[in-house]
Amino acid sequence: MNGTLTLLPDEIDIDLGANETLLAAALRAGIGHAHACGGRARCSTCRVRVVSGIDDCLPRNRDEAAMADRFGFDPAVRLACQTRVGGDVVVRRLVLDSEDLELALAQNRADDPSRAVGAEQRLTVMFADLRGFTHFAEHLPPYDVIHVLNRYFAAMSRAVERHGGRINNTMGDGLMALFPGDVASRRDGALEAVAAALAMVAAMDEVKTYVETTYGHVLDIGIGLHLGEVVLGALARAGEGRLTAIGDTINLASRIEQANKQFGTCVLASDAVVEALGDHVVVARSVRARLPGRSEESTLHEIASLS
Ligand code: FES
Repeated sequence: MNGTLTLLPDEIDIDLGANETLLAAALRAGIGHAHACGGRARCSTCRVRVVSGIDDCLPRNRDEAAMADRFGFDPAVRLACQTRVGGDVVVRRLVLDSEDLELALAQNRADDPSRAVGAEQRLTVMFADLRGFTHFAEHLPPYDVIHVLNRYFAAMSRAVERHGGRINNTMGDGLMALFPGDVASRRDGALEAVAAALAMVAAMDEVKTYVETTYGHVLDIGIGLHLGEVVLGALARAGEGRLTAIGDTINLASRIEQANKQFGTCVLASDAVVEALGDHVVVARSVRARLPGRSEESTLHEIASLS
């Protein structure tokens, strides 16, 4: 006798299998129980509130405890994908509106019902931004602004793609590109990202000259690079194959890009990028900066060239 799971608001009783998690039981019964990370204690979408039977729930494992600490779950809130019980429990699913249900059911219908909606990957993230763009855009007709942006993005895309990167997002005059590297062709993501950044600075010279001679405005580029783990996920309603990247690595790369303004630099990279490149990179100078949202100072490196 492994106990019975009563799931609310579905009002369904499910006999639990030996050592079965609450999530596994719910999915086996065809419930659209959200589980965005695929049951790896890396999200909070599967969480439930234990209405009765908390004493029969086995204690949180280390991964669940870490998530509970991080988000301040009270003791009755448990991750269904990690929770096993030794008796009868009644739990209420906490992530459930009609949208969540539809997404979770779509996930269930997939070939592997336990698959995650995202995948973690270690890669180099680049943010780039145009300096002086706001002033430029305020003083020119929108058609001219689009014209210049098209020219800028075309030049930057060429540099990114030549080095195996992919522009993942554009926001006004900013862009985010990802450099995953490629083991088969021995492409190193960090090396390619730095090479792309230097190529973008070179390509920007031509764009700058064009804008100065045509419009009398000065533009420049700022680029931030960071290497770390991101979660890559497909956005169900954003079109076929459209991936988005989320995670602290993304936030930090964006902050590094913004720091260019403070230090008057064009390409700034984190310690992680410079350490990955070792002797292959020439650093012009290193600075310490307190980036927004960080409690400690970060060391940032102005990239001069590759060697
Ligand atoms: S499915 Fe992500 S933590 Fe349970």
